[in-house]
Amino acid sequence: EKGTYPHYMLKEIDEQPLVMRKIIQSYQDEQGALTIDQEIIQAMNNADRIYIIAAGTSYHAGLVGKQFIEKMTKIPVEVHISSEFGYNMPLLSEKPLFIFISQSGETADSRAVLVNIKEMGYKAITMTNVPGSTLSREADYTLLLHAGPEIAVASTKAYTAQLAVLAILAAVTAKNRGIELRLDLSRELGIIANAMEVLCDEKEEFETIARGFLSVTRNAFFIGRGLDFYVGLEGALKLKEISYIQAEGFAGGELKHGTIALIEEGTPVIALATQESVNLNLRSNVQEVAARGANTCIISMKGLEVEGDTFVIPAVHELLTPLVSVIPLQLISYYAALHRDCDVDKPRNLAKSVTVE
Ligand code: M6R
Repeated sequence: EKGTYPHYMLKEIDEQPLVMRKIIQSYQDEQGALTIDQEIIQAMNNADRIYIIAAGTSYHAGLVGKQFIEKMTKIPVEVHISSEFGYNMPLLSEKPLFIFISQSGETADSRAVLVNIKEMGYKAITMTNVPGSTLSREADYTLLLHAGPEIAVASTKAYTAQLAVLAILAAVTAKNRGIELRLDLSRELGIIANAMEVLCDEKEEFETIARGFLSVTRNAFFIGRGLDFYVGLEGALKLKEISYIQAEGFAGGELKHGTIALIEEGTPVIALATQESVNLNLRSNVQEVAARGANTCIISMKGLEVEGDTFVIPAVHELLTPLVSVIPLQLISYYAALHRDCDVDKPRNLAKSVTVE
């Protein structure tokens, strides 16, 4: 039930700190160390390449998950859109392992790939919010998201839960491979839960941003580099699906290769600046669009902020920033949709789970 909340989406955004804590608990052993079913870790270790298959927001989580897994475990990862993979299968490695990411566990496009790769004799993990769902039953292993029911069509808490579980999978696998990580993931996820809380307490800020930047526009752009690019893709999807604003997320460096032609007086550009190694480059991309009249909104992270940034999010571990930087984008989309009188929880033409191919 949504209780006193006007929409499920807002309630589900607010639940994210709680979900983080639930995930940490659910994946901890009695000693407090993060743990994952040994069989799953074995499957990870036996693989020479991991194929992540997903759609929509879950695909965007996969793009971030690739970075987690590759950086922590050194196992190469490919991320594929399920509806594309089915009809245009890439060359597979000798010992592939498949990870299906699906909030509902019912997405037909992903299921089609699962059936196909099972027939080929390969192993699969399903990462899902719904125990007993089709994808969970048909895969060899299941990793649960513990996010609680997600009712709003726009996925929010499932995305951050997917990122957290992907990070845990990566960290536990790395440890098992004898790779020493310079991050204490339980602790970092705790810091993230607190940072999420801070952001959820600052809703008026995001309402103001939505009103200022998005209440009349027909289009909007999200830019970022590295992990911020992937979060920008998710921000654009969120904005499109609930506010019907035509939105595009792209890598800052790609601007000059075409998209900058679309920037005119007043075009909203939301930039994410949470990655130290590319902060200067990103800042110059912001200048490039601002010089052409864009209305820029910069969301940066504490320690990397520059005077005049629109909003500064609390500092978290550099590899894990998507878990917090997505929250401003979820809230901005929510308020943009609200101000435009859209049906936030049930956007037109969309269903919560897409059970047709
Ligand atoms: O249940 P799934 O995670 O498999 O669903 C995949 C997409 O249909 C879903 O993420 C969709 O893109 C959302 N409406 C995005 O908010």
